[in-house]
Amino acid sequence: MTTEKLTAGHNLTSLQTFLLREESKHPHATGAYTMVLSALSLASKFIAARCRRAGLEDVLGSMGAENVQGETQQKLDVIANEALIRALGSRPGVAVIASEEDDEPIILSQDVTGERPYVVLFDPLDGSSNLDVCGGIGTIFSILQHDRRAARVEDSALQPGVRQVGAGYVLYGPSTVLVLTTGTGVQMFVLDPAIGSFLLVDDDVRIPETNKMYSMNSANLGQCDQAYRDYVDWANGEGYTMRYVGTMVADVHRTMMKGGVFLYPPTKKAPKGKLRLMYEANPMAMLVEQAGGKAFSGTERTMDVIPQEVHQRVPVVLGSAGEVDHVLRFLAK
Ligand code: AHG
Ligand code: MN
Ligand code: MN
Repeated sequence: MTTEKLTAGHNLTSLQTFLLREESKHPHATGAYTMVLSALSLASKFIAARCRRAGLEDVLGSMGAENVQGETQQKLDVIANEALIRALGSRPGVAVIASEEDDEPIILSQDVTGERPYVVLFDPLDGSSNLDVCGGIGTIFSILQHDRRAARVEDSALQPGVRQVGAGYVLYGPSTVLVLTTGTGVQMFVLDPAIGSFLLVDDDVRIPETNKMYSMNSANLGQCDQAYRDYVDWANGEGYTMRYVGTMVADVHRTMMKGGVFLYPPTKKAPKGKLRLMYEANPMAMLVEQAGGKAFSGTERTMDVIPQEVHQRVPVVLGSAGEVDHVLRFLAK
């Protein structure tokens, strides 16, 4: 397939066609990986439909309960979570599911014969606090190969980001955009609601090398280490602009499209950072690196962080290689 920027009008390739074409490159493929991605696609279409009608159906607002993160669960957090679990649970290829909304990983199979080769981790609804104000929200997912040697089946979910075999996000914005990597570059699809298909619009997403734009919740600056404050002072002095939605998927997608750097540093309130390693930082790190960018947690490459527990939090600095390097220069001092 050519690598020039495609538009849906020139090359009508659906996600399904793309996945089957990728699968055909692997002679021993069982189709399980394709089934996992098709489950994620189906669930995201369901979530998109519910988000679009959120104001019309009784799905806005909170459940009045907190999740394992100690955050108030929105109704659509639960709806999205259930959609993903039901879609993935009914597919043969998934051994373990780990979700931001569930305390523990869900074991779908003891996988004694190895027919369930994948672990899927996800943030079913990212940026849910933006839902009630019709802001951009998203879904983030990470795919690992099931590690049958893990002491406990659920420990198979605790593999470093370098072991991911796939990652992606869906942005529920003015359009519904799926950005995906299966390890050979980054592809972007847009949902055509008229036919219910994700159509390929870019088969080689590359993050711009630089852009004088940083994205962070500047209200936290007073709680950040001096190095981050020094970086922001430098950037402001260099004429950088700041954009921040407060939904990681939206802020990262803008960074992927326009370049720049997204930061969520450690704060007094979140001393290890707020974002979760396994289903926010790692999948975004794989996507950004596959698109030619960088992703660090402090001075450590995010995908090298060895996970200790499924909901652990890490600092995040990711985006254009040149822009991340500017931040790392201050962190190294
Ligand atoms: P989630 O809605 O899945 O809990 O994620 C929210 C996260 C992330 O989307 C965003 O980057 C960050 O929270 C924003 O945090 P602040 O509101 O503290 O800036
Ligand atoms: Mn999130
Ligand atoms: Mn979430």
